[in-house]
Amino acid sequence: MGKQVVAGWTRDGWRSFEARHLPSYADPHALGDAVATLENYPPLVFAGEVRDLKAHLAQVAQGRAFLLQGGDCAESFAEFHPNTVRDTLRVILQMAVVLTFASKRPVVKVGRLAGQFAKPRSAPTETVDGVTLPSYFGDIVNGIDFTREARSNDPQRMVRAYHQAAATLNLLRALAGGGYANLRQIHQWTLDFMARSPWADKFNSLADRIGEALDFMEACGVNPASVPQLHGTQFYTSHEALLLPYEEALTRQDTLTGDWVDTSAHMVWIGDRTRFDGSAHVEFARGIANPLGIKCGPSLEPDVLSRLLDTLNPQREPGRITLIARFGHDKVEDGLSRLIRAVSRDGHPVVWSCDPMHGNVVKAASGYKTRPFDRILREVRGFFAVHRAEGTHAGGIHIEMTGQDVTECVGGAVAITDEGLADRYHTHCDPRLNAAQSLELAFLLAEMLNAEAGGRARDAA
Ligand code: PEP
Ligand code: CO
Repeated sequence: MGKQVVAGWTRDGWRSFEARHLPSYADPHALGDAVATLENYPPLVFAGEVRDLKAHLAQVAQGRAFLLQGGDCAESFAEFHPNTVRDTLRVILQMAVVLTFASKRPVVKVGRLAGQFAKPRSAPTETVDGVTLPSYFGDIVNGIDFTREARSNDPQRMVRAYHQAAATLNLLRALAGGGYANLRQIHQWTLDFMARSPWADKFNSLADRIGEALDFMEACGVNPASVPQLHGTQFYTSHEALLLPYEEALTRQDTLTGDWVDTSAHMVWIGDRTRFDGSAHVEFARGIANPLGIKCGPSLEPDVLSRLLDTLNPQREPGRITLIARFGHDKVEDGLSRLIRAVSRDGHPVVWSCDPMHGNVVKAASGYKTRPFDRILREVRGFFAVHRAEGTHAGGIHIEMTGQDVTECVGGAVAITDEGLADRYHTHCDPRLNAAQSLELAFLLAEMLNAEAGGRARDAA
């Protein structure tokens, strides 16, 4: 910490590197105006919070905590509502309780929230009934409606996204710190529709056990008033740092340490499509002090990853880098072990996290893009199996989920079928786990974390 200026780095130096997946704006003056507006706005997060998150992630890297990162694939202006934010937070809190109870270790909670707007797309244009228009690149760039007007890039959307992120973050801070996340409230977190899931019963009995433990501690004089950790929780935000003019405008120098911090979120990540050698996104990320995620897909070669780590974390600072593996259920075992061996050989301290979403997209017969729940689970199991074999810590999970009762991923205990996808398919981009599927995943993760802890105990004996 406090290393101040990173060699040869400037806030806008990325501009002379190859930038893929950045939108072009027709009017450079309009872009300049939007950026100037953002540059005068307050930071969304603060350098001290970013340092705290890095310290928590260092604990994960050392095998002493678990990272839970989740939220929308893409936040949207249309779905912005306090209940949507609250319900996503609520499911993340429920999952965290299940994971903490199972692993007996702290869970670091990070939302894909309050800034997750920009999307890389596989094709620059989309054709419907013979009409070709630019693709949708996320609400921070253009609109999802299939009209020429909606699909044109508008820099003022960055300003609107900032305001939505600020309001979202304000609500998250209030909910996390103002009593809603109090462990005494745990029974109130169950969502009505979740009662149909067998996992809701399991959650309620776990909540009973936690309630009893709290009663016991209260009798011993320990209660939410005396112990702040029972009254509230720390909740962090993250998104893909894709839209570099927006990220640059919110990057500020910390007066205390001289570090440059991207104040748009506590943690940002580099996507699988923009983590190549010579990328502008890598160059930008190199100079900011935030914890960084790197998506690692099947095309990432171990030597490229080694170079990336040397570039992004030359000091080998634990908590700086989270590697988010997103291979697909059938590729994770091979692909991940190659990367783990390279990283362990180089002695880079990283958090290994599993994104079981992005390698498991299929097109359903109904035409919807979906992710079968059983493939998601298979990838998670494979991820844990590889870490067990390599002797490394399966440190985290990265998921696209929502607190809403959507029908976007097929399967799960309240089985969503191909035909059922049409009922409530609301995502602006990739299909998300709904609340019941997220909780189910948490219980299965809990089993694996238990087994990991059991393995550790056996190894130590
Ligand atoms: C995402 O996380 O929404 C995403 C685009 O992922 P990836 O970069 O891994 O494809
Ligand atoms: Co996605």
